[in-house]
Amino acid sequence: MFRELGDYANDPIEGMFARLAADKFAGKIDLGIGVYRDQSGKVPVMQAVRQAEKIMLDKRLSKSYMTPFGNLAYCRDIERLVFGADHPVLAERRIVSAQTPGAGCALRLGAEIVHDLSPESRVWASTPVWFHQLEFFTKAGLDILPYRYYDRENSAPQFDAMLEDLAGMRAGDVLLLHGCCHNPTGHDLSLEQWQAVTDVVLGTDAIPFVDIAYQGFGRGIEQDVAGTQLMLAQVPQALLTVSSSKSFGVYRDRAGMLSIITPTDAAGTTGIRRKLRDSARQLYFMAPDHAATVVHEILSSSELEQLWRDELDDLRQNISEKRAELRRTIEAENPGFDAGFIGQQLGMFSCLPITDAEQRTLEDEYHIYMLPDARVNVAALNAARAITVAKAFRAIRDRRA
Ligand SMILES: Cc1ncc(COP(=O)(O)O)c(C=O)c1O
Repeated sequence: MFRELGDYANDPIEGMFARLAADKFAGKIDLGIGVYRDQSGKVPVMQAVRQAEKIMLDKRLSKSYMTPFGNLAYCRDIERLVFGADHPVLAERRIVSAQTPGAGCALRLGAEIVHDLSPESRVWASTPVWFHQLEFFTKAGLDILPYRYYDRENSAPQFDAMLEDLAGMRAGDVLLLHGCCHNPTGHDLSLEQWQAVTDVVLGTDAIPFVDIAYQGFGRGIEQDVAGTQLMLAQVPQALLTVSSSKSFGVYRDRAGMLSIITPTDAAGTTGIRRKLRDSARQLYFMAPDHAATVVHEILSSSELEQLWRDELDDLRQNISEKRAELRRTIEAENPGFDAGFIGQQLGMFSCLPITDAEQRTLEDEYHIYMLPDARVNVAALNAARAITVAKAFRAIRDRRA
């Protein structure tokens, strides 16, 4: 059986990480992996998380099994964080949630449930797309259809083209959207555009699947979910995934949530609850609890929540300064080039307007590594790295002339 296995050298993401690991140059720059780094290049642990962990240690919490729903107190907290207190989905109790091992598992679990219930549903995903996201759906057996979202060559959003493509959705198709800080482009829809997409969803009877992985990284904790709230107040049914990896900096501890927003005319939520429980159990049995309890400790103490909010505000400010710096540095090194898009985009990522071959040159000659579509993790930059990237970008462009 195992003799048949090829190597995975052709996987664009794994291939890049293999080349990065093999590069012995001391000053190599990893702009690939999606983690926030402070000025010294470290991935910091939030003080609110440290304090919550101390409280948890003092409480001598149980390590007994949970259920496939995971930590339901965490789910209630995250629902509140995403919807606020008065949203109709919460008021009408049209939501069934499970805590998952991160949003990656939540996406896979959601895909499995969609496939079980409606295998003919097609999943509409943005171009460009976060590459791993597609795998969760294709592995579940679902077909993917692309919709235009962002023209990377010209660093320009393609909203009209997006609407044109989405007009092709059929009833029961799934529309994959990023709640905020779109991965990989950093380009988000305005509230008017969320409304226009909502109208298409309502007109086609498609089902939105909103993925929120960066709440608090874009405009603010509440602002980053405004589009999601707007849409989910109007559609009869939806899926939602939320990650705590970035917003709480608990990446490796794995906490996320899958929610199913039940149809307005459904006869209760019992069947959906069973389906969610059974699918989670069949896929991974149950989620780890540590990070979910950390988040719950933070969000059930007004002091810790305030500390977390302040830390997240600082982090967002820091990213926006890094964006401004990268823009300035690129424009200084490349007279006449407008890098304004880097300043306008939100969250950790932006895509550079370079070809795949040019991206490979950045690796081979400048030791700068990015994910497919020249996705730069702006949050992994500091002043020195920004200059290196800007100079390499100029060298690439000079060669075009
Ligand atoms: C858009 C998006 N969704 C989901 C995830 C998965 O997050 P996690 O599994 O760490 O919670 C990521 C991670 O990069 C992401 O960018």
